[in-house]
Amino acid sequence: MNNFEFYNPVRIVFGKGTIPQVQKYLPKDRKVMMLYGGGSIKRNGVYDQVVQGLKGIQWTEFSGIEPNPLYETCMKAVERIKAEKVEFLLAVGGGSVLDAVKFIAAAACYPGKDPWDILTSGGSVVKAALPLADVLTLPATGSEMNCFSVISRKSTQEKLAFGSPHVFPQFSILDPETTYSLPKKQLRNGLVDAFVHVMEQYATYSVNTPLQDRQAEAVVRTLLDVAEDVLSKQDYDSRATFMWAATCALNGTLSRGVIEDWSTHEIGHELTAFFGVDHAESLAIVLPGVWKHQFENKKGKLAQMARRVWHILGGDETSQAKTAIEKTVQFFHSIEMPTRLSDYGITEAGIQKVVERFQQRGTVMGEHQNIRAKQVGEILRLCL
Ligand code: NZQ
Ligand code: ZN
Repeated sequence: MNNFEFYNPVRIVFGKGTIPQVQKYLPKDRKVMMLYGGGSIKRNGVYDQVVQGLKGIQWTEFSGIEPNPLYETCMKAVERIKAEKVEFLLAVGGGSVLDAVKFIAAAACYPGKDPWDILTSGGSVVKAALPLADVLTLPATGSEMNCFSVISRKSTQEKLAFGSPHVFPQFSILDPETTYSLPKKQLRNGLVDAFVHVMEQYATYSVNTPLQDRQAEAVVRTLLDVAEDVLSKQDYDSRATFMWAATCALNGTLSRGVIEDWSTHEIGHELTAFFGVDHAESLAIVLPGVWKHQFENKKGKLAQMARRVWHILGGDETSQAKTAIEKTVQFFHSIEMPTRLSDYGITEAGIQKVVERFQQRGTVMGEHQNIRAKQVGEILRLCL
């Protein structure tokens, strides 16, 4: 097991009817801004529940944060925050709203001229941020219990991530009943995003982390077990299980002391930036390609997953690992998630665009640092 530090200060308030508890945890003496997206929270009653919890607190609001939140929109919020002397941010929505609020919190305190530096530096320039908290309405990203944020920039078609301990939420309220209004497509996306988060921390090579391996396998097995119920009915227990599994998939526990490989996410972000495919859709395309391309390096862990998650006990390591890839693709298809670039009309010309971007950036990815622009092209050709 590799050496590690673990720090996660997020208070999770989980369960039915917990939203008005924002009242208990928000500071009473600071001006709060509630930030949200395109209006789903107004239609499903979440907005009203939050407002109930804001009684006695001075507050204002900012709406219109889009999926794959835009830098341009975030900077409008920063202007308002400065003008209105807001001191605490409350995100209400899915991962996009949470991520936007994390960036806004950091940008509002950033002394440099260009807050985009926060993203190009990966977050190392962040020395302070406004305090923030959230009410989560979409299980998927894990943003509610981590310090990462992903922001897109319209003008340059970029999508970059940053992380900083300054943007951990102070608390996150997770009420599974908020998920009842989610369209099937978003539920499917959430299942796939959480699944792939586990894989990026698992499907590499072993450094003797039996507990973390079992934890990762437990999270993916749980996602597979609840997927059908999550998609077919409004059932509290399966939604609660899904919501907590998605949080546990990316709250830092699974990655402690292990070898990670986030190349599927990094390549996927470019597919979203250039072609507008949803985040999870991009992952479902790229993950099988990365696994096929890196098969020799990943086959030990993939075979372990086949044995433990799908109980494939026959055959040798190679055939078990191949089965893990097939089972993963079957899972995606079973929840109506496409897995090919051609499903979105993306062709060789599109692959070239992505390859050129990786060339310009000089990015090196993979647990063996062997995925560069050329290999990105090879991987994406396996996904056509
Ligand atoms: O904007 P509103 O009206 O709220 O509608 C949203 C949006 O259209 C809707 N929605 C959310 N909760 C709902 C609901 N509709 C009905 N009922 C509800 N309860 O769903 C749509 C998608 O929301 P979004 O927040 O974009 O989805 P998600 O949570 O999947 O977030 C995706 C973003 O997170 C980033 C992705 O790159 C993408 O930008 N990620 C963030 C990570 C992190 N912070 O750690 C890690 C992930 O890998 C990911 O990259
Ligand atoms: Zn993701």
